[in-house]
Amino acid sequence: MKINKLLVMVLTVLLMAISGSVIASENIDKAVKACAACHGANGVSNNGQWPNLAGQKEQYLISQINAFRNGSRSDALMNASVQGLSDKQVAAIARYFSSLKREQNVPGDLALEGLNVRARCVSCHGMKGRTVNTEWPNLAGQKYEYVKKQLMDFKSGARKSPIMEVIANELNDEQIAAVADHYSKL
Ligand code: HEC
Ligand code: HEC
Repeated sequence: MKINKLLVMVLTVLLMAISGSVIASENIDKAVKACAACHGANGVSNNGQWPNLAGQKEQYLISQINAFRNGSRSDALMNASVQGLSDKQVAAIARYFSSLKREQNVPGDLALEGLNVRARCVSCHGMKGRTVNTEWPNLAGQKYEYVKKQLMDFKSGARKSPIMEVIANELNDEQIAAVADHYSKL
């Protein structure tokens, strides 16, 4: 009798856990599909203004989604896209996109100008555009147009980051274009 009761309890808890996780993953499926409309089903977008998310650092993705949620980073398309998400969904979505492999971009020659500028970036973004810090973004294989716009936004203060605002301010337009070209080809 005692054992039966225990068995029923264990089964009930198990069933609750299973159905709970199915509902959770369905919610994420729906959300991920919405993100994929712009960021690509495999996390690689086909628009130069929309960043690739595949293989991006999990913690960095969480911090950026939260920045769009609370308005400290603003973009008309993004602020609306993340409003309905819960913290749990944000964590699961970040884990999902971070786990995807970023496809190799079309290889191209790395120009000297870009190599020179990126010397200022390697201490944080890594020798090959991949960082060891979970809060800092990988830049390798990111979209040219997107990287250029982010550097311009840091420079104008439209996007806030105490570190990056200082660094972007020291770059002129040619250097920004050159370093964006460099990272887009890694
Ligand atoms: C209608 C198009 C669109 C949709 C849908 C969309 N995004 Fe975005 N996303 C953008 C654009 C455009 C940017 C770049 C904004 C900027 O220039 O700062 C962006 C930027 C981001 C960034 C910042 C990446 C980085 O490297 O800093 C993250 C993270 C992100 N989106 C996640 C999501 C998630 C998660 C969803 C789904 C819940 C989503 N996006 C849905 C267009 C979209
Ligand atoms: C001292 C460390 C440091 C250095 C050096 C540095 N960065 Fe960053 N970078 C960061 C951090 C931290 C962020 C994330 C900022 C945030 O939270 O929005 C970032 C973000 C970026 C982003 C936005 C990426 C995205 O996905 O939206 C770009 C682009 C970027 N850095 C380019 C550069 C370039 C180019 C250089 C060299 C000229 C450089 N960074 C040097 C720390 C650094």
